[in-house]
Amino acid sequence: MERAEIRVLDSYTVHIGQGMLKEAGKIVSEVVPPCRAVVVTDSNIPPEYVQTLEKSLEEKGFEINIFTIPAGETSKCIEKFIEIQNFAAENHLCRSDIMIALGGGVVGDLTGFCAATYMRGIKYIQVPTTLLAAVDSSVGGKCAIDLEKGKNLIGAFCQPSAVICDVDTLKTLKEEFITDGMAEVIKYAHINQPELFEILEKTQDLTQKIKNGTDGKTAIDVISKCVKLKADIVQKDRFDLGERQLLNFGHTVGHAIEAASNFKISHGHSVAAGMCIMARTAQKAGLCSRQTAQKIEHLNKKYQLPTATDIPLETLWELIKNDKKNATDGLTVVFPTEHSLCGLHKLTHQKFKELLSAGLEK
Ligand code: GLY
Repeated sequence: MERAEIRVLDSYTVHIGQGMLKEAGKIVSEVVPPCRAVVVTDSNIPPEYVQTLEKSLEEKGFEINIFTIPAGETSKCIEKFIEIQNFAAENHLCRSDIMIALGGGVVGDLTGFCAATYMRGIKYIQVPTTLLAAVDSSVGGKCAIDLEKGKNLIGAFCQPSAVICDVDTLKTLKEEFITDGMAEVIKYAHINQPELFEILEKTQDLTQKIKNGTDGKTAIDVISKCVKLKADIVQKDRFDLGERQLLNFGHTVGHAIEAASNFKISHGHSVAAGMCIMARTAQKAGLCSRQTAQKIEHLNKKYQLPTATDIPLETLWELIKNDKKNATDGLTVVFPTEHSLCGLHKLTHQKFKELLSAGLEK
């Protein structure tokens, strides 16, 4: 059976394969001795996934308590954070116990932040069930909750003790969630993965092959390519002070689109539009060629992702001002420079606003 194991920061392994939920107990027991565990999941997760994970952990001696949040970005909030922490305390979790995130990016970010802060920090495991969480948010230790003023404004860097990615869980995902995850896959192709770019450009029905491939091979291959690149970047810049910021390609504008739409436009779709807006901005600023910008748009169109937004500059700008990439003297943005390469640019707020106004034109 196809399997991939990728080490991150020499401190944990990302396990990618089919039937991994059944093996969760074995994998978790290799990194934490049997203990109490709070499993956080959401209302979209099929009950059989929760049961399979629970059974596998219980067989290895873990005592499981399940906390289910409503699916959606609005759960990544301070109220749910407090509810989970109270649930952990009511169930007598102590420092040697763990939390487990079974779900997509919202569940992963929220659970990671709960684990990072409960009793000043306990271990946690990521079990991503969406493509987006598998390729990006479950790896690298960024965890956070949102504030009204913007996404991920309270958070921590706290690496999981293991990531268990069962590609069979992609089979029950709605198409829109696979499309959403493809935006992050495309992001990796643009920041330094020409091989992935070629796969995305040339493969027919790639999303179907990722979702429904009987041997899981396509999903494992695509997810591991993304995770390897991310692991490599995180290894060099764990705290997002330099090269890791490349992973934010499309995110500064994307997060603003997401928040301005009141999270009706999903993360992947917002980031996809953000990447094209940044590509047009870079082109108009003379930082990348028209051909490079067009390739970025072309890939979005191939995967039914947006290439622009109707949200006005002033609305976006109010949100961009609160982005974490801001410093007092400006902000660092990611522009494409050439085929499958991006670069970091530090700009004053005024300059970026001016350039962005050109990039927002369709
Ligand atoms: N999602 C971007 C990062 O983890 O740095």
